[in-house]
Amino acid sequence: MPLVRVERLSLMYGADLVLRELTFQLEPRQRLGIVGANGSGKTSLLKALSGEVPPAGGSVALAARSRLAYLPQELEAGPHESVYADALHSRSDIMELRQRLEGLEDAMARTGGEALPGLVDEYGDVQHEYERLDGYAYDSRVAEVLHGVGLSEADQALAPSALSGGQRRRLALARLLLQEADLLLLDEPTNHLDLEAIEWLEDFLRVSHAGMLIVSHDRRFLERVADDILELQAGVGEWYPGNYRQYVRLRQERRSVRQKEYEAQQEYIARTEEFIRRYKAGQRAREARGRQTKLDRLERVVPPAEDQQIRIRLRASATSELIYQSDGLTLAYKSPSPSGGGQGWGLNVPAFTVSAGERIAIVGPNGSGKTSLLKALLGELRPLKGRVKTGPRVTMRYYDQHLADLDPNKTVLTELQDVFGLPEETLRTFLGRLLFSGDDAFKMIRSLSGGEKSRVALAKLMLDDAGLLMLDEPTNHLDIPAQEMLEDALNDYQGTILFVSHDRYFIDDVSTHLWVVEDGSVSMHLGNYSDWERRRQRIARPAAANEGRSRSPRPASPLRVATPAGASVEDQIQDVEAEIHRIEERLADHQTYDDPAQVAELSRAHEEASLRLRSLYQEWEQAAGL
Ligand SMILES: Nc1ncnc2c1ncn2[C@@H]1O[C@H](COP(=O)(O)OP(=O)(O)OP(=O)(O)O)[C@@H](O)[C@H]1O
Ligand SMILES: [Mg+2]
Repeated sequence: MPLVRVERLSLMYGADLVLRELTFQLEPRQRLGIVGANGSGKTSLLKALSGEVPPAGGSVALAARSRLAYLPQELEAGPHESVYADALHSRSDIMELRQRLEGLEDAMARTGGEALPGLVDEYGDVQHEYERLDGYAYDSRVAEVLHGVGLSEADQALAPSALSGGQRRRLALARLLLQEADLLLLDEPTNHLDLEAIEWLEDFLRVSHAGMLIVSHDRRFLERVADDILELQAGVGEWYPGNYRQYVRLRQERRSVRQKEYEAQQEYIARTEEFIRRYKAGQRAREARGRQTKLDRLERVVPPAEDQQIRIRLRASATSELIYQSDGLTLAYKSPSPSGGGQGWGLNVPAFTVSAGERIAIVGPNGSGKTSLLKALLGELRPLKGRVKTGPRVTMRYYDQHLADLDPNKTVLTELQDVFGLPEETLRTFLGRLLFSGDDAFKMIRSLSGGEKSRVALAKLMLDDAGLLMLDEPTNHLDIPAQEMLEDALNDYQGTILFVSHDRYFIDDVSTHLWVVEDGSVSMHLGNYSDWERRRQRIARPAAANEGRSRSPRPASPLRVATPAGASVEDQIQDVEAEIHRIEERLADHQTYDDPAQVAELSRAHEEASLRLRSLYQEWEQAAGL
């Protein structure tokens, strides 16, 4: 008996058909990845499985006595007073039994005599059930899972509403995992999560005994967790056996086969039509009619649907050379808030300057204060200490992590019209570039899919030239082609960008600078994520090695590899690193900036040295057999 059986399932919103006669089944422990463009119906499918959206046709059957748990794409803060209480109530069955036990204990303490044996019996029964559900171990399990998702004891005492985006996601995951369901429905589970949490989740899902439907745009994640892939496109589902890599290959193959079939058929049709045209009035008219009948009955091969691509272009308006300048900031929330101790949350930001044209990626674990830092620069969060000076001519646009500035009760069109006052025709043509075609412009924001909402937010950025973009996790919800398109658009953009992201590829592709927010402070670096990570590993290794033997970074490996130049790779690495450090020190000195030519020269030298360092590392890793 399969865990779920979906048969000829159709879904409609009003007159729009979202899924057409979808059929598949999932075995116990099977993990199915669900992929497809934004708006292709992935979330709708999960909602149909969870019973939230009634099917327009067909059926969904869950195996008897199996339990289902659902992680929605968009989350609200939990209803309980604290994160811990919220997590504890994940298992309502255990909590109910617990209450009954307490009630019975009270009653037994108060009653004596004849009523007592009855109470004791009942208590025994309830206790038996409670034990069966592992009720006594439940609290420690809750604590364990909360720790697992990286919510510290201080976080657990907070009100759920005080959590950052990523922390909220972690709590939702903890709640889901505590339910110990047989079927997990996960809608973009990695959104908002930092790298560490994603890896933890991967491991967790891989050892779990539950069957799963996992909607995701994260290729790496899918590759690691999904056994098979279901792709949704234009209302139709296509099943691909095997993991994500296999899917990519198979999809390519199937599409090219289908394209060839289509072309062959088109050719046949053209030839036949030509024959009919030529002979329909002549001697061979009978044959021509016969061919016409055959042609009429021919089942037409449809060509593979084209993957549609959004087109984004971001134009920059001119700004002053100086964007931001500050002698240092202290940010804090007075009430206890993200990841602080009981004393509240705080962040120290050293002195910094942001100049026109820089692209700064802000990275750091969930709850470390990335969004708060952006808000301080936006002027929405008043620093406890220090000030930020904004350049004399800076126009700025902000892309909110939760897209809160979109009005759910407007249509796509009015949302844009009300801000930009452009004629409807102009806007509708423009919306076509973002794949809102025809009546899509009249859809309500509240009924849009996650990725469609993001596209509206991108539309607003496009319509409004600004010299500075502040983007908080802009790739969340976007499908892969749209993510790549955004990457390109940002690279073409001539202005300044400050953005928060957990996506390594995206960061590496877009950023020139990196701000790392961690343990209550911010450190600032030139270069992208990979550069920084290598440097950090390099710093961490000798420190560990000092306790042991020589300078060898990994004590067990024979790492001192001689090169033709005589110096070991390791020595060369140290030299280049020292050089990079010297360059950075000079770049950190504000006097350097009096001479733009020198800054350019130093940046070039920095880039060159970083490249050299990268190849030295590769050499070193190879030699070490890593
Ligand atoms: N309540 C609703 N009313 C009307 N249309 C809706 C509603 N919910 C979703 N839709 C539409 O149905 C289509 C499928 O939406 P769904 O949320 O399932 O997409 P998705 O594949 O999950 O997309 P994404 O990757 O962006 O999350 C979209 O075009 C969306 O606009
Ligand atoms: Mg969705």
